[in-house]
Amino acid sequence: MDRFIIQGGIPLQGTVRISGAKNAALPCLAACLLTEEPVILENIPSVRDIATTIHLLKTLGVTIKESEETSTSSGKEAHASQRRIVSQANRVESVEAPWELVRTMRASTLILGPLLARFGKARVSQPGGCSIGARPIDLHIKGLEKLGATFHMEHGMVVGQADRLRGARIYFDRITVTGTEDLLMAATLADGETILDNAAREPEVQDLASLLTKMGANIEGAGTSTICVRGVSKLHGADHRIIPDRIEAGTFLAAAGITKGDLTLQDCCPDHLQIVIDKFREIGMKIEKISTNSLRAWAHQPLRAADIATEEYPGFPTDMQAQYMALVTQADGTSVIHEKIFENRFLHALEMVRMGANIRVDGSQAIVRGPVQLSGAGVTASDLRASASLVLAGLAAQGETIIERVYHIDRGYERIEEKLQAIGARIQRISYK
Ligand code: EPZ
Repeated sequence: MDRFIIQGGIPLQGTVRISGAKNAALPCLAACLLTEEPVILENIPSVRDIATTIHLLKTLGVTIKESEETSTSSGKEAHASQRRIVSQANRVESVEAPWELVRTMRASTLILGPLLARFGKARVSQPGGCSIGARPIDLHIKGLEKLGATFHMEHGMVVGQADRLRGARIYFDRITVTGTEDLLMAATLADGETILDNAAREPEVQDLASLLTKMGANIEGAGTSTICVRGVSKLHGADHRIIPDRIEAGTFLAAAGITKGDLTLQDCCPDHLQIVIDKFREIGMKIEKISTNSLRAWAHQPLRAADIATEEYPGFPTDMQAQYMALVTQADGTSVIHEKIFENRFLHALEMVRMGANIRVDGSQAIVRGPVQLSGAGVTASDLRASASLVLAGLAAQGETIIERVYHIDRGYERIEEKLQAIGARIQRISYK
């Protein structure tokens, strides 16, 4: 187990390189199951969820070759590895995602669509809920059944089979990111045309569609609510660079704001962050687009409160809600945060209250009053983005903050303490048994 020890109160200064997007890399890695040829992915982040996915693919019989190409990084610039992974599913022996893997990463369900499309069968442990909500996969199953698959439950496993998937019109009752990705992958090899209606529009969905198109898929409308896929008989290998992680970038923008620092973000994609940039400017941060892949953010004047409601893309991302909450504990006034995507995504609020924040949770809303001087304390991380928000709070707090269970943050942030140290933060990772 690891913990972070943070001495707060230091304005962060310098340049940080943003890593590849975990939530784009996960579906792109699953897509390698759709062909027997090698799929080359660049800019893969070194985070736990990627390691879990690689382990899962290897248990299926996929050959994985990795190379670590680290970007140049001087003392001033933080380190971001840009790993290259070559996956080849030409000797798949199993179609089962075991419980011990799925329980650690529910995105393992992303292999359902590809396995059914290519091999006509799949056995995936029903992912349990997690700290932020029930996280069902009913919409994945319903969509795949529309394409002709049949499912039954067996000892906690979702067991699916399909002779040949057939194109269909699928309407998602709720917008689902990995549901859209699962069905998009399945539809590429289905007979005929598939229409995905009320589809997710996230950049990560678009990045997956870009890879699938390079592999020979026939896709129109990715990034809009209606995606049209014309099935093909076979897909071939491809070489694809994963997009930058917009949530990591948003987290470092928040770090600049909460510490009243001045940060330059490189290898990011400002266009994927527009609503976050607009909101951070609204509360008084200065954010300048330096180029198509770099931003500068600083906050030298007091922040002002502002409300948010989390929405599907292009709305304010739920994965930035916890980080925003930490930031507005420092803003003058009352900010109302409405979490509309997940039913239990305020666990970080209670930990911030222990650091002196003035936050009241009322159902799906959190009311934050500021500014307050946070004070360092021992806190416990509960999920990936909650952990990031506690790091942000610790960076702003007076004194020492100890964050337990940082394995949550390692799931989605690449060596975050090294990146923070390189821009002036006093943060240490302590490993203990
Ligand atoms: C993806 O999760 C992301 N994970 C999440 O990021 C992100 O928070 C979420 O999208 C929302 O943007 C990956 O991409 C790997 P959903 P996903 O299906 O696809 C309900 C992080 O921090 N729903 O879009 O699982 C669901 O319960 C993670 O990186 C159903 O009811 O989320 C939720 O309320 C956390 N039935 C809503 O839809 C279903 O079959 C949106 O969920 C599927 C989803």
